[in-house]
Amino acid sequence: MKNVKIKSTLLEALTKAGKIIRSSLGKDLKITKKGRFNLVTETDKASERAVVNIISRHFPDHSILAEESPAVRGSGCRWIIDPIDGTTNFAHGFPVVSVSIGFERDGRLEMGGVLDPFRKELFFAERGKGATLNGKRIHVSKVKTLENSLLATGFPYDRNKNPEAYLAMLRVFLTRIQGIRRGGSAAIDLCYVACGRFDGYYEMKLSPWDKAAGMIIVEESGGRITDFSGKPLTLTGLQNLATNGLLHREMLKALAPFKNLGQ
Ligand code: IPD
Ligand code: CA
Ligand code: CA
Repeated sequence: MKNVKIKSTLLEALTKAGKIIRSSLGKDLKITKKGRFNLVTETDKASERAVVNIISRHFPDHSILAEESPAVRGSGCRWIIDPIDGTTNFAHGFPVVSVSIGFERDGRLEMGGVLDPFRKELFFAERGKGATLNGKRIHVSKVKTLENSLLATGFPYDRNKNPEAYLAMLRVFLTRIQGIRRGGSAAIDLCYVACGRFDGYYEMKLSPWDKAAGMIIVEESGGRITDFSGKPLTLTGLQNLATNGLLHREMLKALAPFKNLGQ
């Protein structure tokens, strides 16, 4: 299977989804709830339909894991899709959202693309070939200490079950860093670590579609991504830590009290 065709399909799908998202902002989004805090709009579904149609037209035998529909089992090639990452932002008209598509072959991430349709920023990485933003190579930051860092985090949808743990984690960093942002799109948070806008990012309980593309983009830009014990991050792992590499030890140390969280 040629990576060239995988890449062109991935980019075609991101572009189409981006157009759908851009054209629906400001219109009736037909918002429904999947959980207490977890929203879904008609645009999430339309974006996913478009992405899945494009992929299955080019690769009818591939497996697909997409957030808003049941998994499709096929060959060892699997596409992992978040049709809108940042739905809460989108539903409120806060324009920080993305479309995230990762591609895995025999259980190994090979390619990932994240499109921010409002800023028109396309992050892309292919294993062994580096990561890019709108075609230009990107690299993680050179910040070496928490004291000089700008971090990102997020709060999972089950935050009403265990708010103390998430607040305690935030507290560990609050007094030690230059700032912390809660952007609302995990895929963008990861890409911002990759291009040096953030020095580190942590969040509990991401789903595979939130992070598949972002993981390879961070790795290919020279960053490091693990759980809170420093073990390699898996798509189903609950603890997610991505840094520029230089900050990793210090962040692992700060997160040590939480390394059994969610186990
Ligand atoms: C969410 C966003 C958010 C993160 C949540 C995710 P969704 O994805 O990535 O930043 O904090 O954990 O579930 O629901 O907007 O696709
Ligand atoms: Ca998501
Ligand atoms: Ca989503």
